[in-house]
Amino acid sequence: MKKKLIVGNWKMNGSLAANAALIAALKDGLAAQAADAGCGVAVAVPAPYLAQVQALVEGSRIALASQDVSQHAVGAYTGETSVEMLREFGVRYTLVGHSERRQYHGETDAVVAAKAQRALAAGITPIVCVGETLAERETGETENVVKRQLAAVVHAVGHCVTELVVAYEPVWAIGTGRTATPEQAQEVHAVLRAQLAAATTHAQDIALLYGGSMNAANAAQLLAQPDIDGGLVGGAALKAADFLQIIAAAD
Ligand code: 13P
Repeated sequence: MKKKLIVGNWKMNGSLAANAALIAALKDGLAAQAADAGCGVAVAVPAPYLAQVQALVEGSRIALASQDVSQHAVGAYTGETSVEMLREFGVRYTLVGHSERRQYHGETDAVVAAKAQRALAAGITPIVCVGETLAERETGETENVVKRQLAAVVHAVGHCVTELVVAYEPVWAIGTGRTATPEQAQEVHAVLRAQLAAATTHAQDIALLYGGSMNAANAAQLLAQPDIDGGLVGGAALKAADFLQIIAAAD
């Protein structure tokens, strides 16, 4: 069976002290689980803490992820972080196109696609986030929206499509405590899988994560769906006990 992947997105939370305590608790919890425990685990941390968390997760099951990356290689882009910088800190994954980036920072499908390409070229796996707003769901636009968002990336990356991770995060479920039902999530994941299957014969190997109020109580049911290969976890990833339970549900 394909290994699942659980990614914690810390968003703009944390401090040196809180990060150290959280990672220590996660490492303790993971050490207590079977040594060959299965799923992949990563944490997407705020950029200033990459060096700290790189050192903390060294030698553990926890991989390091960035929450964003510049579409540009280098130069006069104040405030941005390049793929080469991320590589220097051992970053394995980067989120691209999180709905909060699309919503608050005007990231378009084209920008998201350029970021995904840039990450892939540097050997960093982009976790491409897609998802509809509540208004889009209510007007029956869900399928069109997620397909449009994914199509931009699939078109840009060509045969590298198999290197992507895709995360379906319905905007209305993010931070609201209102999770998509397993059936609602599976329905969209099946649409995304079919879209990927039109681009590659290896669509089954591409990890499709669900995100949006995933927690210790609902993770197992969501992860049991045939096209849900993992989770992208926000709030619950900040609490070691909750995040460990989600990981345990995926192991
Ligand atoms: P919550 O788990 O807090 O709803 O956040 C989901 C998310 O946006 C992860 O990227």
